[in-house]
Amino acid sequence: MTAKDFGKNFKWGVAIAAAQNEGATDVDGKGKSIWDSFTQNGSKIKGAAKLTTACDFYHRYKDDLLLVKALGFSLFRFSISWARILPDGTGKINKEGINFYHRVIDECLKLGLIPYVTLYHWDLPQELENKGGWTNYFINKWFSRFVTICAEAYGSKVKHWIILNEPFGFTTLGYMLGKHAPGKKGLGNFLPAIHHAALAQAEGGRIIRKLVEEAHIGTTFSCSQVIPYSDKKEDLAAANRIDILMNRLFIEPALGKGYPVDDSFKFLEKLQLHNKTWKYTERLHFDFDFIGLQYYFPVVVKHNSYIPIIQATEVKATVRKMPVTAMGWEINADSFYRTIKKIWLYGGVKEILITENGAAFKDELKNGIIDDRARINYFNQHLQAMLKAKKEGVNIKGYFAWTLMDNFEWSEGYHPRFGLVHVDLKTQLRTIKNSGYWWRDFLQ
Ligand code: GAL
Repeated sequence: MTAKDFGKNFKWGVAIAAAQNEGATDVDGKGKSIWDSFTQNGSKIKGAAKLTTACDFYHRYKDDLLLVKALGFSLFRFSISWARILPDGTGKINKEGINFYHRVIDECLKLGLIPYVTLYHWDLPQELENKGGWTNYFINKWFSRFVTICAEAYGSKVKHWIILNEPFGFTTLGYMLGKHAPGKKGLGNFLPAIHHAALAQAEGGRIIRKLVEEAHIGTTFSCSQVIPYSDKKEDLAAANRIDILMNRLFIEPALGKGYPVDDSFKFLEKLQLHNKTWKYTERLHFDFDFIGLQYYFPVVVKHNSYIPIIQATEVKATVRKMPVTAMGWEINADSFYRTIKKIWLYGGVKEILITENGAAFKDELKNGIIDDRARINYFNQHLQAMLKAKKEGVNIKGYFAWTLMDNFEWSEGYHPRFGLVHVDLKTQLRTIKNSGYWWRDFLQ
């Protein structure tokens, strides 16, 4: 298998995100983001990791973009830090922040890399969080202004826009389970955060459509095949509930179907209630040009009446003795294939881009070489699965590997390494892993 098998119009890229890569958290007028605050209290993050330097992409973007080019990719996905553009989230524009992304975009264009810009990859300005963040109804006004500023600044150069990165991820981990910034918990936070994020993804799309000529607009969803642990009725029902949450909650309103309604899942009635009060159903819909599908692993679930609301627990891959990555995530390419098919069969999806897929493994740097065969196998298997779906007629147009270089993996700190390029966090030295060379050969 080589890139040719996907057809000459198929596009290949790598993805990164501002908070995970940039560093320079208080440089050139940048305001604080919720991740800057969250990492200041080290107890919440493995290894008390901080964002202050990260991979120093802020200063090293030219070299890093050269790496993207050298590996043979033609698309580069990165996100804009809201607090770099608007230090307090709403007020004064920070020119230096605007200029930084101009430099990144210009460098991409100079190298012949097509920029794919994510507007929100989880780093909300802390000042907005102080006012409730995603739980506050006004988040949609704040976000609209930020999107408008980005569209006006970069719209003549950037045509590919991704509105949100994984709304299920940041609302659940950040506003229900308290594991990610801003560390909030409970349904009182979760339900409004869901509704406001669902509104923001559509509203953001409308703003880009209005302001950017010939824009190609998408938004991303984390997707997992949800597999019931047994054929027992209660396990099937548990899998159905988790599927609604993990896969359907945000894509269905975006496609104009409203929130997924299911009589057996009382929790969603509460969400409908919020939505009815705010009377915004029709505004949840936007005609996206593409859906960004992000896939890492399947989940197996069984009924568990002790767990509030979802009444389900995951049966971990290690317990089931399945092959796993360094994150403990099951390696299962067939499940990637099934996930692509499922999203396609929804109807209403015009085009799919895989906006993230990749794996962390325990890399060993020996004599300047990282022989990361497990990662090569992971990519190989997942690309085969994607090719199968493509051959069966899914309109899948591109793929982004996660990620260019080892970076900050949220609450897991810097320990999990997902990169095609190894980063020595003390010296910032980059070393292309064998998986990076594998990609170069595959693309050539
Ligand atoms: C995604 C997220 C990325 C990256 C990846 C690997 O959910 O969008 O930022 O961290 O997971 O865990």
